Amino acid sequence: MDLFEYQARDLFESYGVPVLPGIVADTPEEARAAAEQLGGVIVVKAQVKVGGRGKAGGVKVAKTPDEAQAAAEAILGLDIKGHVVKRVMVAGGAQIAQEFYFSVLLDRANRSYLSLCSVEGGMEIEQLAVEKPEALARVEVDPRAGIDLAKAEEIARAGGFPDELVGKVAPVIVKLYAVYEGEDATLVEVNPLVLTEQGDVVALDGKVSLDENAAFRHPAHAELEDADAADPLEAKAAASGLNYVKLDGEVGIIGNGAGLVMSTLDVVAYAGEAHGGVKPANFLDIGGGASAEVMAAGLDVILGDEQVKSVFVNVFGGITACDAVANGIVAALGILGDSATKPLVVRLDGNAVEEGRRILAEAAHPLVTVVATMDEAADKAAELASK
Ligand SMILES: Nc1ncnc2c1ncn2[C@@H]1O[C@H](COP(=O)(O)OP(=O)(O)OP(=O)(O)O)[C@@H](O)[C@H]1O
Ligand SMILES: [Mg+2]
Repeated sequence: MDLFEYQARDLFESYGVPVLPGIVADTPEEARAAAEQLGGVIVVKAQVKVGGRGKAGGVKVAKTPDEAQAAAEAILGLDIKGHVVKRVMVAGGAQIAQEFYFSVLLDRANRSYLSLCSVEGGMEIEQLAVEKPEALARVEVDPRAGIDLAKAEEIARAGGFPDELVGKVAPVIVKLYAVYEGEDATLVEVNPLVLTEQGDVVALDGKVSLDENAAFRHPAHAELEDADAADPLEAKAAASGLNYVKLDGEVGIIGNGAGLVMSTLDVVAYAGEAHGGVKPANFLDIGGGASAEVMAAGLDVILGDEQVKSVFVNVFGGITACDAVANGIVAALGILGDSATKPLVVRLDGNAVEEGRRILAEAAHPLVTVVATMDEAADKAAELASK
Protein backbone atom coordinates (compact mmCIF):
# COMPACT_ATOMS: atom_id res chain seq x y z
CA MET A 1 0.00 0.00 0.00
CA ASP A 2 1.40 3.35 -1.06
CA LEU A 3 0.88 6.32 1.24
CA PHE A 4 0.12 9.91 0.44
CA GLU A 5 2.90 12.39 1.15
CA TYR A 6 1.07 13.82 4.16
CA GLN A 7 0.73 10.35 5.66
CA ALA A 8 4.43 9.71 5.12
CA ARG A 9 5.17 13.11 6.72
CA ASP A 10 3.13 12.17 9.79
CA LEU A 11 4.90 8.80 10.11
CA PHE A 12 8.28 10.50 9.71
CA GLU A 13 7.40 12.96 12.46
CA SER A 14 6.37 10.17 14.83
CA TYR A 15 9.83 8.61 14.38
CA GLY A 16 11.65 11.87 14.94
CA VAL A 17 12.62 12.47 11.31
CA PRO A 18 12.91 16.24 10.84
CA VAL A 19 9.96 17.47 8.75
CA LEU A 20 8.20 20.78 8.28
CA PRO A 21 4.69 21.36 9.60
CA GLY A 22 1.96 20.22 7.22
CA ILE A 23 -1.83 20.57 7.30
CA VAL A 24 -4.15 18.87 4.82
CA ALA A 25 -6.92 20.83 3.12
CA ASP A 26 -9.77 19.65 0.91
CA THR A 27 -10.94 23.12 -0.15
CA PRO A 28 -9.28 26.46 -0.98
CA GLU A 29 -10.84 27.93 2.17
CA GLU A 30 -9.26 25.23 4.32
CA ALA A 31 -5.94 25.89 2.59
CA ARG A 32 -6.23 29.59 3.45
CA ALA A 33 -6.98 28.74 7.09
CA ALA A 34 -4.01 26.37 7.17
CA ALA A 35 -1.74 29.07 5.74
CA GLU A 36 -2.97 31.53 8.38
CA GLN A 37 -2.27 28.98 11.07
CA LEU A 38 1.25 28.20 9.81
CA GLY A 39 2.17 31.81 9.00
CA GLY A 40 5.01 32.92 6.73
CA VAL A 41 5.87 31.40 3.40
CA ILE A 42 4.14 28.11 2.75
CA VAL A 43 4.00 25.54 -0.04
CA VAL A 44 0.73 24.08 -1.34
CA LYS A 45 1.26 20.51 -2.54
CA ALA A 46 -1.05 18.18 -4.46
CA GLN A 47 -1.66 14.91 -2.61
CA VAL A 48 -1.69 12.25 -5.32
CA LYS A 49 0.06 8.90 -5.38
CA VAL A 50 2.16 9.65 -8.43
CA GLY A 51 5.54 11.26 -8.99
CA GLY A 52 6.40 14.45 -10.82
CA ARG A 53 3.85 16.63 -9.07
CA GLY A 54 6.09 19.68 -9.14
CA LYS A 55 6.51 19.64 -12.90
CA ALA A 56 2.77 19.13 -13.40
CA GLY A 57 1.96 22.33 -11.47
CA GLY A 58 1.04 20.47 -8.30
CA VAL A 59 3.52 22.25 -6.00
CA LYS A 60 3.17 26.02 -5.52
CA VAL A 61 4.82 28.49 -3.16
CA ALA A 62 2.52 31.02 -1.46
CA LYS A 63 3.60 34.05 0.56
CA THR A 64 0.20 34.97 1.97
CA PRO A 65 -3.06 33.20 2.90
CA ASP A 66 -4.62 34.79 -0.23
CA GLU A 67 -1.96 33.23 -2.41
CA ALA A 68 -2.37 29.91 -0.61
CA GLN A 69 -6.08 29.94 -1.36
CA ALA A 70 -5.44 30.75 -5.02
CA ALA A 71 -2.79 28.03 -5.25
CA ALA A 72 -5.16 25.46 -3.76
CA GLU A 73 -7.85 26.57 -6.21
CA ALA A 74 -5.44 25.93 -9.07
CA ILE A 75 -4.22 22.58 -7.74
CA LEU A 76 -7.46 20.98 -6.51
CA GLY A 77 -9.12 19.19 -9.42
CA LEU A 78 -5.88 19.12 -11.41
CA ASP A 79 -5.30 15.90 -13.31
CA ILE A 80 -1.76 14.67 -12.71
CA LYS A 81 -1.02 11.63 -14.85
CA GLY A 82 -4.60 10.42 -14.47
CA HIS A 83 -4.80 11.16 -10.74
CA VAL A 84 -7.27 13.93 -9.91
CA VAL A 85 -6.18 16.03 -6.93
CA LYS A 86 -8.80 15.92 -4.17
CA ARG A 87 -6.63 17.13 -1.33
CA VAL A 88 -3.61 19.36 -0.84
CA MET A 89 -1.10 19.67 1.94
CA VAL A 90 -0.18 23.14 3.10
CA ALA A 91 3.42 22.78 4.25
CA GLY A 92 5.88 25.12 5.84
CA GLY A 93 8.23 26.67 3.27
CA ALA A 94 11.89 25.71 3.49
CA GLN A 95 14.77 27.90 2.38
CA ILE A 96 16.67 25.30 0.47
CA ALA A 97 20.46 25.40 0.22
CA GLN A 98 20.93 21.92 -1.25
CA GLU A 99 18.74 18.97 -2.32
CA PHE A 100 19.69 15.31 -1.76
CA TYR A 101 18.20 11.90 -2.42
CA PHE A 102 17.77 8.96 -0.06
CA SER A 103 15.76 5.76 -0.16
CA VAL A 104 15.73 2.30 1.35
CA LEU A 105 13.74 -0.47 -0.23
CA LEU A 106 13.12 -4.18 -0.37
CA ASP A 107 15.44 -5.75 -2.93
CA ARG A 108 13.51 -8.90 -3.86
CA ALA A 109 16.00 -10.15 -6.44
CA ASN A 110 18.80 -10.18 -3.88
CA ARG A 111 16.64 -11.12 -0.90
CA SER A 112 17.99 -8.11 0.87
CA TYR A 113 17.43 -4.42 1.46
CA LEU A 114 18.95 -1.76 -0.73
CA SER A 115 19.69 1.85 0.02
CA LEU A 116 20.04 4.46 -2.73
CA CYS A 117 21.66 7.73 -1.87
CA SER A 118 22.96 10.79 -3.65
CA VAL A 119 24.20 14.20 -2.67
CA GLU A 120 22.84 15.31 -6.04
CA GLY A 121 19.09 15.51 -5.52
CA GLY A 122 16.54 17.80 -7.02
CA MET A 123 16.41 15.84 -10.22
CA GLU A 124 14.08 12.93 -10.88
CA ILE A 125 15.89 9.90 -9.62
CA GLU A 126 15.15 7.83 -12.72
CA GLN A 127 16.83 10.55 -14.76
CA LEU A 128 19.83 10.70 -12.43
CA ALA A 129 20.19 6.91 -12.60
CA VAL A 130 20.34 7.09 -16.40
CA GLU A 131 22.35 10.26 -16.92
CA LYS A 132 24.74 10.12 -13.99
CA PRO A 133 24.67 6.61 -12.54
CA GLU A 134 27.99 7.15 -10.76
CA ALA A 135 26.34 9.85 -8.61
CA LEU A 136 23.74 7.44 -7.25
CA ALA A 137 25.16 5.08 -4.65
CA ARG A 138 23.60 1.64 -4.23
CA VAL A 139 24.46 0.17 -0.86
CA GLU A 140 23.17 -3.20 0.26
CA VAL A 141 21.66 -3.25 3.73
CA ASP A 142 21.65 -6.52 5.65
CA PRO A 143 18.11 -6.87 7.04
CA ARG A 144 19.46 -8.50 10.20
CA ALA A 145 21.83 -5.63 10.93
CA GLY A 146 19.76 -2.73 9.60
CA ILE A 147 21.18 0.80 9.45
CA ASP A 148 23.00 2.02 12.53
CA LEU A 149 24.96 5.26 12.64
CA ALA A 150 28.12 3.69 11.16
CA LYS A 151 26.16 2.16 8.28
CA ALA A 152 24.34 5.46 7.70
CA GLU A 153 27.70 7.23 7.46
CA GLU A 154 28.88 4.61 4.97
CA ILE A 155 25.76 5.20 2.86
CA ALA A 156 26.14 9.00 2.98
CA ARG A 157 29.82 8.81 1.99
CA ALA A 158 28.98 6.45 -0.85
CA GLY A 159 26.34 8.96 -1.99
CA GLY A 160 29.03 11.63 -2.28
CA PHE A 161 28.33 13.66 0.85
CA PRO A 162 31.35 15.65 2.08
CA ASP A 163 32.51 14.98 5.65
CA GLU A 164 30.83 18.04 7.16
CA LEU A 165 27.46 16.90 5.80
CA VAL A 166 27.84 13.20 6.63
CA GLY A 167 27.53 14.05 10.32
CA LYS A 168 24.26 15.90 9.71
CA VAL A 169 22.65 13.47 7.31
CA ALA A 170 23.57 10.13 8.92
CA PRO A 171 21.33 10.51 12.02
CA VAL A 172 18.39 11.32 9.73
CA ILE A 173 19.12 8.20 7.66
CA VAL A 174 19.08 6.13 10.87
CA LYS A 175 15.64 7.52 11.71
CA LEU A 176 14.33 6.91 8.19
CA TYR A 177 15.46 3.31 8.50
CA ALA A 178 13.61 3.11 11.82
CA VAL A 179 10.45 4.07 9.90
CA TYR A 180 11.19 1.43 7.26
CA GLU A 181 11.74 -1.33 9.80
CA GLY A 182 9.21 -0.25 12.41
CA GLU A 183 6.36 0.08 9.94
CA ASP A 184 7.25 -2.98 7.83
CA ALA A 185 7.66 -0.79 4.76
CA THR A 186 8.95 -1.97 1.40
CA LEU A 187 10.01 1.56 0.44
CA VAL A 188 10.93 4.75 2.24
CA GLU A 189 12.05 7.44 -0.17
CA VAL A 190 12.87 11.08 0.47
CA ASN A 191 13.28 13.24 -2.62
CA PRO A 192 14.32 15.82 -1.80
CA LEU A 193 16.05 15.53 1.51
CA VAL A 194 17.35 19.08 1.92
CA LEU A 195 19.88 21.17 3.72
CA THR A 196 18.25 24.48 4.66
CA GLU A 197 19.93 27.88 4.66
CA GLN A 198 19.73 27.57 8.45
CA GLY A 199 21.87 24.40 8.26
CA ASP A 200 19.20 21.84 9.13
CA VAL A 201 18.59 18.59 7.27
CA VAL A 202 14.85 18.19 6.57
CA ALA A 203 12.74 15.62 4.68
CA LEU A 204 10.71 17.78 2.28
CA ASP A 205 8.91 14.97 0.47
CA GLY A 206 8.21 11.40 1.47
CA LYS A 207 7.13 8.30 -0.34
CA VAL A 208 6.33 5.23 1.74
CA SER A 209 5.00 1.83 0.67
CA LEU A 210 3.82 -0.52 3.39
CA ASP A 211 3.93 -4.30 3.17
CA GLU A 212 0.31 -5.46 3.30
CA ASN A 213 1.44 -8.92 4.36
CA ALA A 214 2.50 -7.34 7.65
CA ALA A 215 -0.86 -5.64 8.21
CA PHE A 216 -1.65 -8.00 11.08
CA ARG A 217 1.20 -6.43 13.02
CA HIS A 218 -0.05 -2.90 12.37
CA PRO A 219 -3.72 -2.37 13.15
CA ALA A 220 -3.14 1.37 12.71
CA HIS A 221 -2.31 0.89 9.02
CA ALA A 222 -5.97 0.18 8.22
CA GLU A 223 -6.67 3.88 8.80
CA LEU A 224 -4.12 4.84 6.15
CA GLU A 225 -6.09 3.10 3.43
CA ASP A 226 -7.60 5.32 0.79
CA ALA A 227 -11.26 4.27 0.94
CA ASP A 228 -12.06 6.44 -2.11
CA ALA A 229 -9.65 4.56 -4.32
CA ALA A 230 -10.54 1.03 -3.24
CA ASP A 231 -12.42 -1.00 -5.82
CA PRO A 232 -15.83 -1.83 -4.25
CA LEU A 233 -15.61 -5.48 -5.33
CA GLU A 234 -12.10 -5.81 -3.93
CA ALA A 235 -13.28 -4.20 -0.69
CA LYS A 236 -16.17 -6.66 -0.47
CA ALA A 237 -13.85 -9.61 -1.15
CA ALA A 238 -11.35 -8.38 1.42
CA ALA A 239 -14.16 -8.17 3.99
CA SER A 240 -14.82 -11.89 3.39
CA GLY A 241 -11.10 -12.66 3.62
CA LEU A 242 -10.89 -13.60 -0.07
CA ASN A 243 -7.78 -13.30 -2.19
CA TYR A 244 -9.40 -11.38 -5.08
CA VAL A 245 -8.09 -8.97 -7.69
CA LYS A 246 -10.46 -7.26 -10.11
CA LEU A 247 -9.42 -7.37 -13.76
CA ASP A 248 -10.98 -5.96 -16.85
CA GLY A 249 -12.65 -8.92 -18.57
CA GLU A 250 -15.89 -10.89 -18.84
CA VAL A 251 -15.07 -14.39 -17.55
CA GLY A 252 -15.20 -14.65 -13.75
CA ILE A 253 -12.57 -17.02 -12.37
CA ILE A 254 -12.57 -19.12 -9.20
CA GLY A 255 -9.85 -21.62 -8.46
CA ASN A 256 -8.03 -23.21 -5.56
CA GLY A 257 -4.38 -22.38 -5.31
CA ALA A 258 -2.69 -19.26 -6.64
CA GLY A 259 -0.70 -21.14 -9.30
CA LEU A 260 -3.77 -22.85 -10.71
CA VAL A 261 -5.65 -19.56 -10.79
CA MET A 262 -2.78 -17.79 -12.56
CA SER A 263 -2.66 -20.46 -15.25
CA THR A 264 -6.46 -20.37 -15.52
CA LEU A 265 -6.20 -16.67 -16.35
CA ASP A 266 -3.73 -17.49 -19.11
CA VAL A 267 -5.86 -20.28 -20.54
CA VAL A 268 -9.00 -18.14 -20.53
CA ALA A 269 -7.21 -15.20 -22.15
CA TYR A 270 -5.95 -17.56 -24.84
CA ALA A 271 -9.35 -19.22 -25.38
CA GLY A 272 -10.99 -15.79 -25.44
CA GLU A 273 -9.12 -14.83 -28.59
CA ALA A 274 -11.36 -17.20 -30.56
CA HIS A 275 -14.47 -15.65 -28.98
CA GLY A 276 -14.25 -11.96 -29.76
CA GLY A 277 -11.38 -11.26 -27.37
CA VAL A 278 -13.12 -11.95 -24.06
CA LYS A 279 -10.78 -11.87 -21.07
CA PRO A 280 -10.65 -13.04 -17.46
CA ALA A 281 -12.60 -10.74 -15.12
CA ASN A 282 -10.65 -11.38 -11.95
CA PHE A 283 -8.18 -13.41 -9.96
CA LEU A 284 -9.79 -15.32 -7.10
CA ASP A 285 -8.02 -18.01 -5.14
CA ILE A 286 -10.35 -19.65 -2.64
CA GLY A 287 -7.49 -21.67 -1.20
CA GLY A 288 -7.24 -25.30 -0.17
CA GLY A 289 -10.09 -25.92 2.23
CA ALA A 290 -12.86 -24.31 0.22
CA SER A 291 -16.06 -24.66 2.21
CA ALA A 292 -19.51 -23.98 0.80
CA GLU A 293 -19.45 -20.63 2.59
CA VAL A 294 -16.17 -19.61 0.96
CA MET A 295 -17.42 -20.78 -2.44
CA ALA A 296 -20.65 -18.82 -1.91
CA ALA A 297 -18.76 -15.70 -0.82
CA GLY A 298 -16.50 -16.00 -3.87
CA LEU A 299 -19.37 -16.53 -6.29
CA ASP A 300 -21.24 -13.66 -4.69
CA VAL A 301 -18.34 -11.26 -5.31
CA ILE A 302 -17.87 -12.43 -8.90
CA LEU A 303 -21.57 -12.34 -9.77
CA GLY A 304 -21.66 -8.81 -8.37
CA ASP A 305 -19.24 -7.74 -11.11
CA GLU A 306 -21.45 -6.27 -13.83
CA GLN A 307 -18.84 -7.00 -16.48
CA VAL A 308 -18.95 -10.74 -15.78
CA LYS A 309 -20.92 -12.80 -18.32
CA SER A 310 -19.84 -16.32 -17.32
CA VAL A 311 -17.89 -17.94 -14.50
CA PHE A 312 -15.20 -20.59 -14.71
CA VAL A 313 -14.75 -22.67 -11.55
CA ASN A 314 -11.48 -24.55 -11.89
CA VAL A 315 -10.67 -26.85 -9.00
CA PHE A 316 -8.00 -29.43 -8.44
CA GLY A 317 -9.05 -31.68 -5.58
CA GLY A 318 -6.30 -32.27 -3.07
CA ILE A 319 -6.73 -32.35 0.69
CA THR A 320 -10.15 -30.89 0.04
CA ALA A 321 -11.44 -33.50 -2.38
CA CYS A 322 -13.65 -32.85 -5.42
CA ASP A 323 -16.75 -34.25 -3.71
CA ALA A 324 -16.43 -31.63 -0.97
CA VAL A 325 -15.93 -28.91 -3.58
CA ALA A 326 -18.92 -30.14 -5.61
CA ASN A 327 -21.05 -30.09 -2.50
CA GLY A 328 -19.70 -26.60 -1.85
CA ILE A 329 -20.76 -25.42 -5.31
CA VAL A 330 -24.25 -26.91 -4.96
CA ALA A 331 -24.66 -25.46 -1.48
CA ALA A 332 -23.29 -22.08 -2.63
CA LEU A 333 -25.86 -21.93 -5.45
CA GLY A 334 -28.49 -22.80 -2.85
CA ILE A 335 -27.31 -19.97 -0.59
CA LEU A 336 -27.25 -17.49 -3.47
CA GLY A 337 -30.65 -18.59 -4.83
CA ASP A 338 -32.06 -16.15 -7.38
CA SER A 339 -29.03 -13.87 -7.20
CA ALA A 340 -27.05 -16.51 -9.14
CA THR A 341 -27.91 -15.63 -12.72
CA LYS A 342 -24.82 -16.25 -14.84
CA PRO A 343 -23.69 -19.57 -16.36
CA LEU A 344 -21.02 -21.53 -14.47
CA VAL A 345 -18.53 -23.79 -16.18
CA VAL A 346 -17.00 -26.22 -13.72
CA ARG A 347 -13.89 -28.27 -14.24
CA LEU A 348 -12.98 -30.70 -11.48
CA ASP A 349 -9.96 -32.93 -11.36
CA GLY A 350 -7.88 -34.72 -8.77
CA ASN A 351 -8.90 -36.42 -5.57
CA ALA A 352 -12.43 -37.97 -5.70
CA VAL A 353 -13.16 -36.45 -9.10
CA GLU A 354 -15.76 -39.10 -10.10
CA GLU A 355 -17.74 -38.52 -6.95
CA GLY A 356 -17.55 -34.76 -7.45
CA ARG A 357 -18.83 -34.96 -11.01
CA ARG A 358 -21.62 -37.31 -9.88
CA ILE A 359 -22.76 -34.81 -7.24
CA LEU A 360 -22.90 -32.01 -9.82
CA ALA A 361 -24.69 -34.23 -12.36
CA GLU A 362 -27.26 -35.22 -9.78
CA ALA A 363 -27.86 -31.66 -8.68
CA ALA A 364 -28.38 -30.78 -12.37
CA HIS A 365 -28.38 -27.06 -11.67
CA PRO A 366 -29.54 -25.26 -14.85
CA LEU A 367 -26.65 -22.76 -14.68
CA VAL A 368 -23.89 -25.35 -14.30
CA THR A 369 -22.01 -27.04 -17.13
CA VAL A 370 -19.39 -29.59 -16.14
CA VAL A 371 -16.48 -29.89 -18.54
CA ALA A 372 -13.70 -32.47 -18.30
CA THR A 373 -10.54 -30.55 -19.15
CA MET A 374 -9.17 -27.12 -18.38
CA ASP A 375 -8.78 -26.11 -22.04
CA GLU A 376 -12.30 -27.20 -22.97
CA ALA A 377 -13.72 -25.48 -19.91
CA ALA A 378 -11.89 -22.25 -20.73
CA ASP A 379 -13.24 -22.40 -24.28
CA LYS A 380 -16.79 -23.04 -23.04
CA ALA A 381 -16.61 -20.20 -20.49
CA ALA A 382 -15.23 -17.81 -23.13
CA GLU A 383 -17.95 -18.85 -25.58
CA LEU A 384 -20.68 -18.24 -22.99
CA ALA A 385 -19.16 -14.85 -22.12
CA SER A 386 -19.08 -13.75 -25.75
CA LYS A 387 -22.82 -14.34 -26.28
N1 LIG B 1 8.03 22.58 1.89
C1 LIG B 1 8.76 23.03 0.86
N2 LIG B 1 9.44 24.19 0.94
C2 LIG B 1 10.16 24.63 -0.12
N3 LIG B 1 10.29 24.00 -1.26
C3 LIG B 1 9.65 22.84 -1.42
C4 LIG B 1 8.84 22.29 -0.36
N4 LIG B 1 8.34 21.14 -0.81
C5 LIG B 1 8.79 20.97 -2.06
N5 LIG B 1 9.58 21.97 -2.43
C6 LIG B 1 10.26 22.12 -3.73
O1 LIG B 1 9.47 21.57 -4.74
C7 LIG B 1 10.14 20.50 -5.39
C8 LIG B 1 9.13 19.40 -5.69
O2 LIG B 1 8.53 18.96 -4.49
P1 LIG B 1 8.28 17.44 -4.19
O3 LIG B 1 9.52 16.67 -4.22
O4 LIG B 1 7.50 17.37 -2.95
O5 LIG B 1 7.35 17.06 -5.38
P2 LIG B 1 7.76 16.23 -6.69
O6 LIG B 1 9.15 15.77 -6.60
O7 LIG B 1 7.39 16.98 -7.87
O8 LIG B 1 6.86 15.06 -6.52
P3 LIG B 1 7.35 13.60 -6.49
O9 LIG B 1 8.48 13.50 -5.53
O10 LIG B 1 6.12 12.90 -6.04
O11 LIG B 1 7.79 13.30 -7.90
C9 LIG B 1 11.21 20.07 -4.42
O12 LIG B 1 12.29 19.48 -5.09
C10 LIG B 1 11.57 21.35 -3.74
O13 LIG B 1 12.51 22.08 -4.50
MG1 LIG C 1 9.78 14.65 -4.67
